[in-house]
Amino acid sequence: MELEAGQVAVVTGAAGGIGLAMARRFAAEGLKVVLADVEEGALEKAASALRSDGADVHARVVDVGAREQVLELAESAYAAYGAVHVLCNNAGVGSGAEGRMWEHDPNDWAWAFAVNVWGVFHGVQAFVPRMLASGEPGHVVNTSSGDGGIAPLPTASVYAVTKAAVVTMTESLYAHLKAEHARVGASVLFPGPHMLRTGLWESHRNRPARYAKQRPRRTPYRSLGQWEAAMRQAGREVRFTPVEEVADLVVDGIREGRFWLLPQSEHSDEQIRARAASMLDRANPSYLESFILD
Ligand SMILES: NC(=O)c1ccc[n+]([C@@H]2O[C@H](COP(=O)([O-])OP(=O)(O)OC[C@H]3O[C@@H](n4cnc5c(N)ncnc54)[C@H](O)[C@@H]3O)[C@@H](O)[C@H]2O)c1
Repeated sequence: MELEAGQVAVVTGAAGGIGLAMARRFAAEGLKVVLADVEEGALEKAASALRSDGADVHARVVDVGAREQVLELAESAYAAYGAVHVLCNNAGVGSGAEGRMWEHDPNDWAWAFAVNVWGVFHGVQAFVPRMLASGEPGHVVNTSSGDGGIAPLPTASVYAVTKAAVVTMTESLYAHLKAEHARVGASVLFPGPHMLRTGLWESHRNRPARYAKQRPRRTPYRSLGQWEAAMRQAGREVRFTPVEEVADLVVDGIREGRFWLLPQSEHSDEQIRARAASMLDRANPSYLESFILD
């Protein structure tokens, strides 16, 4: 679709990281931006930073895992601007699960699914009917991850399972929109190709009491800085992708109507090939060996 000044973009998880970069980029294109996030202080800061750069901003505190709050977000976005053209279901969390799957705290699964999977579904249900009814062009971008969206990543299995679900959900959404000959498109986003310096490693800051861990963690949470130091100490190269590059990929992808917002990367291409080959050959998943820890 054409992205034009005066259109409206809704971004969830917009108070920081990738979501804020997308909102900033949409605003730079002249779009009005609706910022939704569960973290009130960070949201206010993000909204006032964008406003002082001249953006037209509507900010709402929203937990995307709570259906009513996402429906209210849609009400307030339409009340504020009368239209929505771009919807980025971007809010996401790392689950904080430890150990083997059979040892996981069920609330790690419940919380990660509430935000990463139900949050995307709630966004689709709250906005897409009105986007379709408007008859105007529109686009939905759902944020997955190479972790799960491409490779199963057993070392972060809960997160990976949720991000795999986002890919399948978006493929289904794409098919349903095509079946309706809709002017609304859909894309699935794989931020990268490298790591991103965002708040994802501190996701537990936003964990609500209703999904509190039922057992205390065995080990403290590891920050991105600590992980990076450990990788460097082990002689492993750590590379980062600037969040602005992800925002560029999104804007270009919406303009070109591309479904797969998947940056060029030989590493992810190899993972895709290895998994596809295993399935086609009916061979056991030897591609998981690189993830198997002792
Ligand atoms: N950082 C990475 O390396 C990376 C890689 C691939 C995919 N992603 C995905 O990108 C998306 C954005 O993450 P990020 O890396 O910018 O991390 P981030 O923590 O900086 O941003 C996520 C935002 O979502 C918000 N949020 C969390 N729970 C919410 C909820 N219930 N309702 C509304 N907002 C909520 C947070 O407050 C935060 O502002 C996520 O879906 C994440 O899974 C990140």
